[in-house]
Amino acid sequence: WKTDVAIVGAGPAGLMLGHLLRQAGIACMIVERQSAERVLARIRAGVLERTTTDLLDRLGINARMQAEGHPHDGFNLADGERLIRIDIKALVGKQVTVYGQTEVTKDLIDAAPDRDLAILWEAGDTTQVHDIASDAPFVTFERNGQAERIDARFVVGCDGFHGPSRRAIPTAVTHEYQFAYPFGWLGILADVPPCNHELIYANHARGFALASMRSDTRSRYYIDVPLTESIEAWPDERLWDELATRLGPAVAPHIVRGPALEKSIAPLRSYIFTPMQHGSLFLAGDSAHIVPPTGAKGLNLAASDIAYLSDALIAWFTKGDRDAVAGYGAKALARVWKAERFSWYLTKLMHRMPGDGDFERAMQVAELDYIANSVAMQTAIAENYVGLPL
Ligand code: FAD
Ligand code: DHB
Repeated sequence: WKTDVAIVGAGPAGLMLGHLLRQAGIACMIVERQSAERVLARIRAGVLERTTTDLLDRLGINARMQAEGHPHDGFNLADGERLIRIDIKALVGKQVTVYGQTEVTKDLIDAAPDRDLAILWEAGDTTQVHDIASDAPFVTFERNGQAERIDARFVVGCDGFHGPSRRAIPTAVTHEYQFAYPFGWLGILADVPPCNHELIYANHARGFALASMRSDTRSRYYIDVPLTESIEAWPDERLWDELATRLGPAVAPHIVRGPALEKSIAPLRSYIFTPMQHGSLFLAGDSAHIVPPTGAKGLNLAASDIAYLSDALIAWFTKGDRDAVAGYGAKALARVWKAERFSWYLTKLMHRMPGDGDFERAMQVAELDYIANSVAMQTAIAENYVGLPL
């Protein structure tokens, strides 16, 4: 195959970039490890920032999001007893949209054939990126036992945390910043109405809980559990009981229980890889950085990377502008660091770390009480939650 931009990975980052480039008339193609069905079976993020919905609006791949997504004016922090509402609309004049990553991905995949965006599915773990120091990089992989190759002017690694792209950059020029939290989030998806019309992030003495939703009839809940925990230790009823305790007495009576459609444990990690570009290779989304899920930034950071990168690549191919492409990594990282900071802050505020004693718990309770009574603190949280400007 021969194209201008070879994209590795058909998650939200790769799909958004592919569509933006095709919309601008630039040749590109995507190679993906899994089948479309497997990609669409992953249950992940649920909250979209304006920067993300703006991109989908710009693509015109927004009809279902507008019909089925729910704009939210606020969300809640809880300390196990009461709800502290962060009125993001009143504080910073913006909203977030509750629309699942699975749905965003489905809309982008469904729109691909009509927009002439080629996706080569099921390449397994065979993908490798070559010659990124040159102007003629290429990607090799195998599908159905056949060796395939894409020659391009640029390669973009949108292949998530475990993908091969990041590893193609010589370690002599790279640096990894990371923090691994000693717990994970156990999530449950169920076809029951949400317990509250807005999200609730709770820090109870027993641990963290999040009440979220996908629609008026589908709920998503999480609790934090030790990384050593197995799913089998959490039959549905035990999980519903624990959610009721941690979300607190004001919320518990409104929880509607139902069988799990999906249940999984995801580890929490803060991770930043630099640089986000090297020679003819660019990284975007989870291939370059991971945030802990508190704050719902993962998918939205992938989208903001793509907003910067698509502008830079379009300027290169349509105007011969080399500066925009050269500046991509630094520009993207400046925003990544701030979202990393917010996700880390909210994770520490809402979770117990091993070794934390009475003092640390009292500090968290004091901080939540401060937030409850300070418009300045609420504003700082709100402006980060809706997403800092591009
Ligand atoms: P991904 O969505 O990971 O997409 C990368 C794609 O590259 C995948 O389709 C993968 O199959 C493909 N790929 C990998 N290796 C190769 C290869 N060798 N060749 C070709 N293709 C390859 N964020 C939140 O905000 N809230 C959440 O609740 C939440 N839950 C999460 C749960 C889990 C288990 C994970 C892993 C992430 C979660 N996230 C969550 C984060 C959010 O989903 C990600 O930030 C977002 O998916 C990033 O998009 P991406 O396109 O960069 O990467
Ligand atoms: C969801 C996940 C998050 O990480 C978050 O902060 C909010 C909502 C969710 O899956 O609905």
